[in-house]
Amino acid sequence: MAEPLRTLIINFKNYPEASGEAALKLAESAAKVSLSTPAEIIVAPPTPMLGLVARSATIPVFAQSVFPAAGVRTTGAITAEAVKYAGAAGTLLNHSEARVPRAQVEELSKRLKGLGLRVCLCTRTPREAGILARLGSEYLAVEPPELIGSGVAVSRVRPGVITETVSAARGAGYRGKLLCGAGIMGGADVSKAVELGADGILVSSGVVKAKQWESKIRELADPLL
Ligand code: G3P
Repeated sequence: MAEPLRTLIINFKNYPEASGEAALKLAESAAKVSLSTPAEIIVAPPTPMLGLVARSATIPVFAQSVFPAAGVRTTGAITAEAVKYAGAAGTLLNHSEARVPRAQVEELSKRLKGLGLRVCLCTRTPREAGILARLGSEYLAVEPPELIGSGVAVSRVRPGVITETVSAARGAGYRGKLLCGAGIMGGADVSKAVELGADGILVSSGVVKAKQWESKIRELADPLL
């Protein structure tokens, strides 16, 4: 089968609507949509549900974050190795809500790669995206923190963030998928992002809080053809 062109990553965060058993249901809805769209759909359930969702889902499952901590005597830490053991295909890294110091982003990226885990490296600005582009992650996402959870789409109100990220990252030789996120609510927000050069979307509340998960996911995936 041909490689999917574009990507939709759904980050469940710790919203109660997508926690516990509900995480399995949301992952199932995403998997259903992925059967009828060429876009790649990835889910990132709450950490306590990672293993369970990863074992049951038929689509890739990512951790929401990993800690720089390494080794076995790391009580409570989400290590890269633990994420691998849980059956995840990859992880978000350096999300605005789970920032990692720069030197450790680099070190962790190498460790994750060594474990065969895919990385969606998150950045807050085009400048940061340009700097982290050299780490060669599979996905590089830009999300202006002030728009996260706002319901106001980055692609509508800050189009320059996307175009500048595309030129900074590609200018630095980045060859992976460039995603954007923050406030994405509907298909028109996604179409606009694609028009601006994004290869996909990182979304949370627009899906998690939707009344009908499946139709909302379909609405966001459709423009990613
Ligand atoms: O990880 C995605 C996220 O930060 C965007 O959140 O709720 O604005 O879609 P939201």
